[in-house]
Amino acid sequence: MYLSQLYLKNFRNYTEQYLKFNKNINLLIGSNAQGKTNILESIYLIGTGSSHRTNIDAELINWQEEGLYLKCELIKENQDYQLELSLLGRNKEIKINSNRLSRINDLIGYLNIVIFSPEDLNLVKGSPNLRRKFIDLEISQISPYYRHLISKYGKVLKQRNNLLKEIRDNKAPKEMLSVWDQQLIDLGAKIIKKRLESLIKLGILSKLMQRKITNGLEALELKYDTELEIDSNSSEEEIKESFKLKLKEKREREIYQGATTLGPHRDDISLIVNNIDIRKFGSQGQQRTAALALKLAELEFMKGEIGEYPILLLDDVFSELDLSRRSYLLDTIRDKIQTFITSTDLKNLNGLKGNHKIFEIKNGSAIEV
Ligand SMILES: Nc1ncnc2c1ncn2[C@@H]1O[C@H](COP(=O)(O)OP(=O)(O)OP(=O)(O)O)[C@@H](O)[C@H]1O
Ligand SMILES: [Mg+2]
Repeated sequence: MYLSQLYLKNFRNYTEQYLKFNKNINLLIGSNAQGKTNILESIYLIGTGSSHRTNIDAELINWQEEGLYLKCELIKENQDYQLELSLLGRNKEIKINSNRLSRINDLIGYLNIVIFSPEDLNLVKGSPNLRRKFIDLEISQISPYYRHLISKYGKVLKQRNNLLKEIRDNKAPKEMLSVWDQQLIDLGAKIIKKRLESLIKLGILSKLMQRKITNGLEALELKYDTELEIDSNSSEEEIKESFKLKLKEKREREIYQGATTLGPHRDDISLIVNNIDIRKFGSQGQQRTAALALKLAELEFMKGEIGEYPILLLDDVFSELDLSRRSYLLDTIRDKIQTFITSTDLKNLNGLKGNHKIFEIKNGSAIEV
């Protein structure tokens, strides 16, 4: 799949911008604070329905304006799709081929995106939250049902935590917990099961990537890290059983703490290289390589799930990679994955042979050079 064109109106620092893209590589070059990431963000927004860097939609609208409008043309399996997104105040509307979607969730499955930004370099050494977000966003892009599970689980979790506090403060009876426990277990087990399944596939792919990037020196392994007594092949029923048992064991402590201390919202992914947990003990280089391997694995994972490569957004990371990682990345994307690369200069991009377009980004305007 690829984006052939994009139109932005009143998005961030752009008033009106029309862009015609290259099918392969598009370079967005410009000084700091000119609007490079804004373009990537607009692509992410029209693909997923939300921004990758803010939860507050209003921030996306140009300060002088009341609303924004984005439109793009997506070519997929030789078919054309027109995606439109408008935001007026808090009112978000999305259209596909002029048909208005009743739910934002219905956008999923059209334009798939993998984004690699400087924060992703922390994917390995950063907090578990980042790794949960990584796996959740990835599965959500291919499964609206998973996205729904995550949002429902979040609500149940909040309610259960409130109740735990009330019980602690003697404002509610303990018996009330069982209803929320059941929902937490049901939703949580479904989420964990889906994560386990995805992690098996992702594990195989990232192992391969890591091996290639390091010329066979490093074998990367991904493991689902949870307090539950389960393994990567456990069934949903087995996950539920263990979840139930552990919750029971922890009940008194949870009431005391007023928080749910068990479940997918606390789990993590451990990354093991040659028997060492590189989240804690990896060198900076190892951690970066593994982050890159995970992202590249994500591309292949999506290809496997949806039959086509997603598009790739590389925000400022290209120049952060050393020569060998860079050339590996280029080999991976060459001629098959439409890629958008931002950089402050062209200096480190001379390895880019073949098909590409360069846009000069200056003060909210993009000019093809
Ligand atoms: N809602 C908005 N309306 C107008 N301008 C905005 C809005 N939001 C952000 N900006 C401006 O957009 C610019 C930032 O754009 P962007 O993040 O794309 O920069 P960049 O080119 O990626 O820079 P860097 O190289 O530092 O990452 C800033 O000048 C900021 O003030
Ligand atoms: Mg930027």
